Amino acid sequence: MKKQILITGGTGYIGSHTAVELINEGFDVVIVDNLYNSNAGVVDGIEKITGIRPLLEVFDLCDSVRTNDLFSKFNISAVIHFAAYKAVGESVRMPLEYYRNNLVSLINILDSMKAHGVENLVFSSSCTVYGQPEKLPVTEQSPIQPAVSPYGNTKQIGEEIIRDTTSSSNTINAIALRYFNPIGAHPSGSIGELPTGVPENLVPYITQTAIGLREELKVFGNDYNTPDGSCIRDYLHVSDLAKAHVVAVKRLSDKKNKKAYEVFNLGTGKGVSVFEALKSFEKVTGIKVKYTITGRREGDIEQIWADPSLANKELNWKTGYSLDDCMKTAWEWQKQVTKSNL
Ligand code: NAD
Ligand code: WQD
Repeated sequence: MKKQILITGGTGYIGSHTAVELINEGFDVVIVDNLYNSNAGVVDGIEKITGIRPLLEVFDLCDSVRTNDLFSKFNISAVIHFAAYKAVGESVRMPLEYYRNNLVSLINILDSMKAHGVENLVFSSSCTVYGQPEKLPVTEQSPIQPAVSPYGNTKQIGEEIIRDTTSSSNTINAIALRYFNPIGAHPSGSIGELPTGVPENLVPYITQTAIGLREELKVFGNDYNTPDGSCIRDYLHVSDLAKAHVVAVKRLSDKKNKKAYEVFNLGTGKGVSVFEALKSFEKVTGIKVKYTITGRREGDIEQIWADPSLANKELNWKTGYSLDDCMKTAWEWQKQVTKSNL
């Protein structure tokens, strides 16, 4: 039987883009998602782009029996574990739900991998583990700071669970990828981010304002110690990010990893302010976005961007899309979503 790559959370934003890149590289893909933050129609989008319809299994990975059954049903060679709750503000209000969902699902995956001799895991981590770094850009050696939210803590604890599991088991090898800020959508306009309710993140808020769903963007503070006073992030295109997962899976499958547990930053290496992001969107779309400057958002990091040189060297991976490309594809996707909701 041909080996399959299991993508948990594969109908979600980053998972669906990764499914496309894996299929394009000839991998056989199985998706598990409970559709908590996505819908089954995403598989149509993946099929439209690749010509191949990945299998979708709908269930909750907190169910250990169903998770284990899945590993019996398929011949899985690697797992890419995206499935998690990810809203920072919500995690502050619902910490137990976040700890339960993000950690129990991870433990179930690791248990099933051990039970079925599956050796390779790629884990979605986040730059949130660095908090506000003292030195910029951040390398993988930059200190991990106490998490400011339960969500962030689930990523720190998740990394620790994986590190300890790889060192206690002779079989499991893992790569944790610390994403900076993924934005944009597949250039085909067939898949993209589907935020439910009011978006927390900057780019969906900009595109929803531009299309008229939101009245105005609120810029959270212009009094930071940055050149234009707004916060700085490292925005990368979601398809670039997706490609890094293909490389990580190949590295593990080909046993090219240097340690049982490796960590890589995934970013462009360039910091971009809120106003610069807004300007890029306005330039590529020709649309003026109404905004006001409000107070700072609690818990916001002033500035952070990646040193991606380890991923550049070891994974032979770097970003290709520009900030303008990111904004262009985010806008095409927003128009597409709005049209299909009419
Ligand atoms: P997303 O919400 O679009 O995708 C996650 C998917 O997982 C959703 O489709 C959801 O329905 C599913 N899911 C959640 N809990 C599940 C469970 N218990 N069982 C089965 N399915 C479950 O999120 P995303 O933006 O694609 O993020 C993917 C991963 O990357 C997450 O782990 C997230 O924490 C991490 N991450 C995201 C960002 C970002 O800015 N988007 C940045 C850093 C890290
Ligand atoms: C970007 C910038 C805001 C919205 C979050 C998570 C983090 C990680 C990535 C998963 C900030 C400003 C935003 C708005 C604004 N996710 N902004 N008005 O803050 O880097 O991080 O996503 O791991 O854990 O916290 O991303 O897109 O929310 O904000 O001015 O309406 O845009 O202040 O400077 P952030 P973001």
